[in-house]
This record gives sequence, structure tokens and C-alpha cells, in this order.
Amino acid sequence: MDSSEYTASDQVDSWKEVILIYNSALKEIGTKLEILNDEFQHVHRYNPIEHIKSRIKTSESIVKKLKKHGYESTIENMVKYVNDIAGIRVICSFTSDIYRIAEMISNQSDIKVLSIKDYIKNPKPSGYKSYHMLVTVPIFLSDRIVDAKVEIQIRTVAMDFWASLEHKIHYKFEGNAPEHIKTELVECARLVSNLDARMLSLNEEVQELAGNKNG
Ligand code: GTP
Ligand code: MG
Repeated sequence: MDSSEYTASDQVDSWKEVILIYNSALKEIGTKLEILNDEFQHVHRYNPIEHIKSRIKTSESIVKKLKKHGYESTIENMVKYVNDIAGIRVICSFTSDIYRIAEMISNQSDIKVLSIKDYIKNPKPSGYKSYHMLVTVPIFLSDRIVDAKVEIQIRTVAMDFWASLEHKIHYKFEGNAPEHIKTELVECARLVSNLDARMLSLNEEVQELAGNKNG
């Protein structure tokens, strides 16, 4: 076997191992979220989480991101510089649920929070709203423990609806959508925030009325 062949198969091996670790991290975080949701249902008769989506970034996107930031495509660089190889999206009913979930995850002793971006308090100029957490979770392998990074995006159903349409439009126009479409998207984002606020206060009122009736 010549040495270049050896290196290539070696790389494939470590690529597979890295992906296995990120997949395990998605399972760990996914289970934590499901447990919190089940417990919430048990205690409060109510599910804060509507649904959860998770994904591993494709190798093409990883290479593209490394290139964009001027890094060589190596496994070491991807682990070090690409923070969203493992991504999990948590869709909640109400804005209050988002902060509840975020706090419960942060308080878990095995989770380390590396950074937080609160695009709900500070929306992006596009109108984008979501709560982003970059965390690490320990993965127990046969001979060692490794910390794996996971990007958690938490948003309401309405924010998710907006983000998926905006993403499609962004993609279609390769980032250069006509001004009036961008303006319309910002206006829709405002409507989304308004809807979220009204649904939240409606729910609070209903909870209160139901509480009085039962108590
Ligand atoms: P990326 O290089 O895109 O990962 O951005 P970043 O490293 O600066 O992180 P940021 O927290 O801004 O965005 C991470 C992810 O949030 C993106 O990959 C998208 O999934 C989502 N996101 C951020 N901004 C927008 C936006 O304007 N529209 C939509 N639809 N999604 C967004
Ligand atoms: Mg990303």
C-alpha cells in the first residue's frame, strides 16, 4: 500500500468517527429534550415542545464553511471551527417556553454552554428570530470521553414558519432578493412577533380561567 492510500483511508476512518460522535451528541441532546417535555407534561399537563428536528451538516456544507473562513479542509479544522455540524431545532408553542427550555438545558450539570445568541431580543436585520445556544455534551466512548458541540436553535411555530419561507427565498435569489420582497419579509416578521405575543397572552388568560375553575 502506498503512503497516500494509507492517509486517505486513515482520513475516512477519522471522518466516520467524528460523524459518529456528532450523531451521538444529537441523540444525547434529543433525549434530554424529550425527558424535559415528558416531565413537563407530567407536572403541568402541558407540552412546551411541539416538535424537534435534528440534522448533521453535509460534508459539502462543512467544506464550504471552512473555505469561507479561509481554513483548509481538515478534520481538525472542522471540529475546531465549524460549530453547527450537529444541529437540533426545537419548536415550541410560546415564546415563554423557549426561555424555559433554554434554562433547563443550561442547568444540566453535564452540559457546557459555550455561547448564546438571542435573536428574539435582538432580531437580525432580515427579521430573523430564534434563540441559539452552542453547547457541548460529553460522549462516553469505549476508551475515553469527548465533548461534542451541538447548535441548538429554539423558536416558536410561527418563527419557524417565517424562517423556512425566508430561507427558501434567500436560496432562490442567492441572497439577493428584490428590495420589496425583503421589506415584505421584515413586515411579516413583525406580524409573527405580534401573533406570538397575542397567542401567549390568550394562553395565559385561558390558563388562569381554567385554574380558577379547577381550584
Ligand atoms: P452561519 O454561518 O449561517 O452558521 O451563521 P453564524 O455562524 O453567524 O451563526 P448564526 O447564529 O447567525 O446563524 C446560525 C443559523 O441560524 C443559520 O445556519 C440558520 O439556520 C439560522 N439563521 C441565521 N440567520 C438567519 C436568517 O436571517 N434567516 C433564516 N431563515 N435563518 C437564519
Ligand atoms: Mg449554520
